[in-house]
Amino acid sequence: MGVVHDLFEVLWRDYLAITPQAEQVAQLLTKRGEVIINDHIALRTFAHDRVDIEVLDRAFVDGGYEPIESYAFKDKHLVACHYEHAEPGMPKVFISSLLLDECSPKLREIAHSLVKQIPIGLEADWRFASSGRTWPLDSKTYETLLEESQYAAWLAAFGYIANHFTIAAHSLKTVTSLTELNDVLVAAGLPLNDTGGRIKGSPEAGLEQSSTMAASIDIQFLDGIKSIPSCYYEFAYRHPKPDGSLFQGFIADSATNLFTSTDHGKGDPAP
Ligand code: NI
Repeated sequence: MGVVHDLFEVLWRDYLAITPQAEQVAQLLTKRGEVIINDHIALRTFAHDRVDIEVLDRAFVDGGYEPIESYAFKDKHLVACHYEHAEPGMPKVFISSLLLDECSPKLREIAHSLVKQIPIGLEADWRFASSGRTWPLDSKTYETLLEESQYAAWLAAFGYIANHFTIAAHSLKTVTSLTELNDVLVAAGLPLNDTGGRIKGSPEAGLEQSSTMAASIDIQFLDGIKSIPSCYYEFAYRHPKPDGSLFQGFIADSATNLFTSTDHGKGDPAP
């Protein structure tokens, strides 16, 4: 249990270091008297035996997290799983992986070569999810990946860190909708991601989400420093289900409850 808390601390520290907006958002909301609750963190990996979701989730599962629901994002060639902890206040953990079998031979080859360079045994370490990038990368390889998959390019450039943290917007006291929160953020000069609409999901689906535009930061590649987008900060507004409890899942092309099969319908995925 203590280990999971330590892991979250490291993930948060590393995320803050490359996501300047996170601090800005936190200050803005704290000034309004808000207490920030983390809804979920998102981690990314390749569907590869050595680093698959079941490898990345180990430290969390050992710390008491349980897999709740699995998801498929067909167009993005991703699968994912979300985990919850029985202790109140613990954020959900959302881990996705890129289905390499559905990618081009070139992308697959690059991904395999990156994974091969992870130090032996690191994947078994409890800090693996926060181990960062342990392979050398040149900017041309990054660009090649970017042409096919933003997801793969981001993972290649940053490695194992949190892709995003997510504020539980429904638990804020000074706003009553995600639109209201978005307006507060924009008014404070924080750029939001408007691609495909500012708000993804809907009250009917149980979840609305928005996020900042990831700021670009300088990354050291083998052939020099290049400025590329890092992480974004996400905002999740969860709505009550017919039984009155808050919807706790995520929106995907298809979702499978790991205990009983349910279908949450279609929506705009935000893996
Ligand atoms: Ni998310």
